Amino acid sequence: MVFENILVEQIENTAMITINRPDKLNALNNDTIEELHQAFEILDGTPSVKTIIITGSGEKAFVAGADISEFANYGVEKGTDLARKGQELLFDFVQNLSTPVIAAINGFALGGGLELAMAAHFRVASSNAKMGLPEVSLGVIPGYGGTQRLPQLVGKGKAMEMIMTAGMISAEDAKDWGLVNYVVEQDELIPLCEKLASKIMRNSSVAIAAAIKSVNANYTNCVNGFGIEIEQFGLSFGTDDFREGTSAFMEKRKPDFE
Ligand code: COA
Repeated sequence: MVFENILVEQIENTAMITINRPDKLNALNNDTIEELHQAFEILDGTPSVKTIIITGSGEKAFVAGADISEFANYGVEKGTDLARKGQELLFDFVQNLSTPVIAAINGFALGGGLELAMAAHFRVASSNAKMGLPEVSLGVIPGYGGTQRLPQLVGKGKAMEMIMTAGMISAEDAKDWGLVNYVVEQDELIPLCEKLASKIMRNSSVAIAAAIKSVNANYTNCVNGFGIEIEQFGLSFGTDDFREGTSAFMEKRKPDFE
């Protein structure tokens, strides 16, 4: 499989997807989301692939969010489409994949990056990783499932704090809060994910697919929440704060919200 923004390789029964835009800290632009969708779809349909590990290239970032430069000029309609399409193509798609997906968080996992890691079936982080949902600092809200999946993983109060402060938490705090299962040194990250993958592979793929479906079923009452998130995400694109927040990021200055 040859893509422009991601690398895909298969070693025995484990596939590894590496998001490969290191100069943009692996930010998710629309093309990358499309490519990830295709890769997950192909790998899920490949019988020899028993587990998928997703990570970011380089030592600094897993994914530093959705690509702000791509959506900074969007209005309400395009903003709403961005969230809806992204959720369908990637975030819900990964959550509901029959093949287990492990997120190997090798650095910054911010905004859409943390949302992607949270859509995976579970997460392992390197000790340098930092996680957060900084969207409100840009005048927008998390739009790729973050308002729904973060409370499911860390509880409502901690999720509210992370979303409202737009701050980052350390890998150790993320482990204490239940956001990641393990924290290891960076050079041990992929080996640990591979070890976990090999344990998973000893078990029935059919039963695992059924277990994924069953675990996810407990969260279907959040379907409305995902819809409201899309609506509110879209509406933020019509605000002055969104213009100011995204312009400030591109101009490398602090936002001055009214
Ligand atoms: N979208 C688009 N470009 C991004 C990006 C994003 N989410 N995150 C980082 N980049 C780009 C930067 O613009 C910069 O590009 P440039 O070299 O062409 O100017 C490059 O990646 C390196 O980032 P930089 O900000 O210089 O690195 P840093 O080490 O100083 O800071 C972060 C790292 C992660 C703290 C900072 O990049 C950041 O805050 N990113 C945005 C995080 C965010 O708000 N994500 C949610 C989006 S909804």
